[in-house]
Amino acid sequence: MQVDFLREKFLKFFQSKKHKIVESDSLVPKDDPTVLFTPAGMNQFKKEFLGFDSGFKRAATSQRCLRTDDLDKVGKTSSHHTFFEMLGNFSFGDYFKEEAIAWAWEFLTKELKISRDRLWVSVYKDDFEAYGIWKDKIGIPVKKIVKLGDKDNFWPAEAKTKGPNGPCGPCSEIFYDFGVDIGCGKPDCSPACSCGRFVEIWNLVFTQFNRKDDGTLESLPNKNIDTGMGLERLASVMEGKQSNFEIDLFAPIVKEIKKRITVKIASEKEFVYAIADHLRAAVFCIYDGVLPSNEGRGYVVRKIIRKSLLHLKTLGINEPLMNKLVPLVAQVMRVPYPDLKDKQEDIALVILNEEKNFINVLGSSEELFKSKFDAFIEKPDSETVGNVAFMLHDTYGIPLELTCQWLDKHKVCFSRKAFEQAMEEQRLRSKSGSAMKGDVFDAKGLGLKLDATKFTGYKENST
Ligand code: GLY
Repeated sequence: MQVDFLREKFLKFFQSKKHKIVESDSLVPKDDPTVLFTPAGMNQFKKEFLGFDSGFKRAATSQRCLRTDDLDKVGKTSSHHTFFEMLGNFSFGDYFKEEAIAWAWEFLTKELKISRDRLWVSVYKDDFEAYGIWKDKIGIPVKKIVKLGDKDNFWPAEAKTKGPNGPCGPCSEIFYDFGVDIGCGKPDCSPACSCGRFVEIWNLVFTQFNRKDDGTLESLPNKNIDTGMGLERLASVMEGKQSNFEIDLFAPIVKEIKKRITVKIASEKEFVYAIADHLRAAVFCIYDGVLPSNEGRGYVVRKIIRKSLLHLKTLGINEPLMNKLVPLVAQVMRVPYPDLKDKQEDIALVILNEEKNFINVLGSSEELFKSKFDAFIEKPDSETVGNVAFMLHDTYGIPLELTCQWLDKHKVCFSRKAFEQAMEEQRLRSKSGSAMKGDVFDAKGLGLKLDATKFTGYKENST
């Protein structure tokens, strides 16, 4: 499989450049209380970025990651995921921009033999050093070096103005150009355009500042490198596919879902892709000991599974199916995670329980609607109805469309504004829970030792 080949090639390449190959951290970060799930390769190295000596100054990983910020985009775009693997090479006060850029270029153009004509780069608008390296040392024509601002070419994005505090720095991204036939067709289209012609494949972060409380950027004594390249996205480029979901990694899962579809809809592909993504996310969360629940990480897993079940229902699949697809995930991920096969039955059982519960909830939604909304037939209160509709959506995963059908039928007034406001409040709450916040690299948090989590989920539903 292309992803297996690419993962190995990447790690071997950086091993040849004297990097220590480090195992992926769990999706539940071991030493980082600032994030709910591991969102990037660098998270397991925060100590090293702050100067802690672990006995190595260079590392490379293929990190399993989970990001929930773009959950609603998954399936609709060609490259958003919840679960994905991030290839990364890291320097802790060792090499800096020159080597990071030269090796990234060497890997893409020499090892993977991607034509240099297809590659464009971006640099932070004030980063003359990176600009000069791309132009003079690598020989990229100036028209293919785009200067972008804080949102695109600083990491964490907009950290300068909005925080978080801690090490941060300008970044330089490498883009693959799918060609003029893709996207907007404008003559001045560039990586700054979001039409789909250019896809970012690699982000090189030059971690050289420490952001302080008052927003000042102090130069770090050690200059660090943190890079991140989405493995699935790289595979789509290498396989000549326009969507990550068309790569061989997803093919057997997508095929199996498609076989069961009984209701044809225009957005079938989007739904199938989202289910395939969410299935992998659920499997790996459970693999890492996160069980579906109503709180924190468990809530994310529950939400991901329920979202998939609603998509399956829309496609006319009303029987539990996700659990049956777990062995396919174990199969496509067998090279990096050979032990997944031994756990597949237990993971499938957890998913089956969740599927059965939610399918029951959906089956009893009529009763639920009656109990929650009957009172408002006589006594209209559209705002409360909007809030309750949100609660049904949030707690039981009942889609708004289903609720609205019932409300329409029974002539119950509903405030969409109240629903959306409740949704926004929840979004802000969950964002602050799942995104990096506070001092991303907060040294205070690094010493925190949580008790080891004992995973009992194979035998118990709750504990
Ligand atoms: N840490 C770099 C990235 O996530 O792109």
